[in-house]
Amino acid sequence: MIIDYKNLITATGLVLLTAACNQPANEPGTTEAAEQEANTVTACVGSLDRKDFQDTIDGKSSDLYVLKNSNGACAAITSYGGRIVSLVVPDKDGKPTDVSVGFKTVKEYQGPGDAYFGALIGRVGNRIAKGKFSLDGKEYTLATNNGPNSLHGGIKGFQAVVWNAVQSNDSTLSLSYVSKDGEEGYPGNLTVNVVYTLGADNAVKIDYKATTDQKTVANLSNHTYFNLNGEGSGTILNHLVQINADKYTPVDATLIPTGKLEPVAGTPFDFTKPAAIGARLDTNVNQQLKNGGGYDHNFVLNDAGTSLHQAAQVTGDQSGIVMDVFTTEPGLQFYIGNFMSGKSSFKSGAKDDYRTAFCMETQHFPDAPNQKNFPSIVLEPGKEYTSTTIYKFGVKK
Ligand code: GAL
Repeated sequence: MIIDYKNLITATGLVLLTAACNQPANEPGTTEAAEQEANTVTACVGSLDRKDFQDTIDGKSSDLYVLKNSNGACAAITSYGGRIVSLVVPDKDGKPTDVSVGFKTVKEYQGPGDAYFGALIGRVGNRIAKGKFSLDGKEYTLATNNGPNSLHGGIKGFQAVVWNAVQSNDSTLSLSYVSKDGEEGYPGNLTVNVVYTLGADNAVKIDYKATTDQKTVANLSNHTYFNLNGEGSGTILNHLVQINADKYTPVDATLIPTGKLEPVAGTPFDFTKPAAIGARLDTNVNQQLKNGGGYDHNFVLNDAGTSLHQAAQVTGDQSGIVMDVFTTEPGLQFYIGNFMSGKSSFKSGAKDDYRTAFCMETQHFPDAPNQKNFPSIVLEPGKEYTSTTIYKFGVKK
């Protein structure tokens, strides 16, 4: 049977039918090619349905977009929060594997079960102590949405707004958002542009840019939760992690940095050589692990400058999938799903169980506006904020 994809898409709203992940082995146009394409599409993005991402949120329409390449990778991204909903790459046997955890519908992303899954984070990622900071002697007060602190841009951060989206081709999605002066307590109109690019090398590149009309602070990130063995495959504690950081920023019991940069050597924070995530997690032994409830800390990246450098490498113990993280940022928040509570169900039907996914959030350091010794996140009018992060996928046999 020859499938007419265009008509099917119109009839069913299944955007994902446009998104064959794998290059068909047969010549395009043949029956086998069409059938194979239909199968790989299913494997590519599971049972996601575009209709489930089309909603009107605060007067703006949300939608779902699919990037794909001819080497078995594809990414589904919703304009609601600029979230990576699905990220499929081949495992060591070539099996398409969704390495990002998330929900099936935009409604669930708006519900109480959401924990920034897949989302763009801003205006300031991570925590600001007591939700307060000063610029030029003027104090600003943000909503405190995480104990005494402000987390990830406040109550309605960039994860909870609909971005304008333009998809120019199969590999690029451009998202933009204007965060108004005073939004969540931050000064200045901030114009933000984020471009997702899926390369032929199975790398997802995220380019962030922002400008302001008033002095402000900006620290953007992405909060994709990864399970390199595939969503629903259980614990991430056996994944192997290497982080290119000789130091990290210890935190108090509310996860605000103490301001010190401490060496990782001789502590469970030493990932300078590959180590299993779960190998040294005894919170009775290490006060920092106790404060974080596990790893939930900012690592001070060794080669930080303004150009791209390798931050980390993670390997899925079952899938053989390897993720290399490159960034222009000086810090990396390594979070291992300590707050995942098993109360919600993901795309695959699996629960969001404790430590079944991890995040590698590239960033400037937490609480930067209040920490004199940390690199500044102040953005002035006439200057441009830029940041790039790459999550690149391969396999180890
Ligand atoms: C992380 C943060 C964690 C937790 C998580 C969301 O970025 O470091 O402490 O808040 O987001 O549940």
